[in-house]
Amino acid sequence: MTAQLIDGNALSKQLRTEVAQRAAALRTRGITPGLAVVLVGENPASQVYVRNKVKACEDGGLYSVLEKHPADLSEAALLARVEALNNDPAIHGILVQLPLPAHIDAQKVIEAIAPAKDVDGFHVASAGALMTGSSGFWPCTPYGCMKMLESIGYDLRGKHAVVIGRSNIVGKPMALMLLQKNATVTICHSATPDLKAMTLQADVIVAAVGKRNVLTADMVKPGAVVIDVGMNRNDEGKLCGDVDFAGVKEVAGYITPVPGGVGPMTITMLLVNTLEAAERG
Ligand code: GUN
Repeated sequence: MTAQLIDGNALSKQLRTEVAQRAAALRTRGITPGLAVVLVGENPASQVYVRNKVKACEDGGLYSVLEKHPADLSEAALLARVEALNNDPAIHGILVQLPLPAHIDAQKVIEAIAPAKDVDGFHVASAGALMTGSSGFWPCTPYGCMKMLESIGYDLRGKHAVVIGRSNIVGKPMALMLLQKNATVTICHSATPDLKAMTLQADVIVAAVGKRNVLTADMVKPGAVVIDVGMNRNDEGKLCGDVDFAGVKEVAGYITPVPGGVGPMTITMLLVNTLEAAERG
């Protein structure tokens, strides 16, 4: 069997068209959804990410400001900037790009963001809201994965979902979102003794480790849905995920490619969250 692709670019395009329409509707009420992106230092990958986020805002009719600060910005100065953005009525979403320089306590900065503007969904209040099923912002990457499952009409009720990885940004929130849709969820990680025994039972596998070939064809039940969150480089320097795509696509029912899968969905869900923040007022 050859798996069907879940095309993150195509789905993003569709969702971004909806975002642009909703942003236009808000503008007629005198509200332009606004995102502030804060970058500290010169991490090259972060520079690319923030540029893409700002560009996506412009394309979607959202207002965005990119604040670039030198690497030696003090923690107190960054906290003061966050506070100013919390109080800025033109800004509905605040994103502080991670990683931050070592002298800044990233969690402290995240907790300083007003939960109503936490469009990254990293604040403990957002995490708590997801855990308890109350209203808050969902982290963009797992939220994008859920949209991908929704796009194929996949009903998670009673299905076994295996999440590989337990980060606060992807693995843990992913597991909670799958649980909220009534899947039976297993979280696997570096101390899981027999990963293959777990993944072979899975109807849905989400690989979010950050290591190539974590999931190979022999570990996948025929017809399973495979979502690849990984962003790695192979020996030729080409972008690849955590999944051995060439092998697994012969076994899985659905699979997300890298690039063109989860990656574009992350930025799309950031736009969705920012729009939602503006709509909530
Ligand atoms: N660094 C890498 N990915 C992300 C993200 O989604 N949000 C933030 N704030 N920083 C990141």
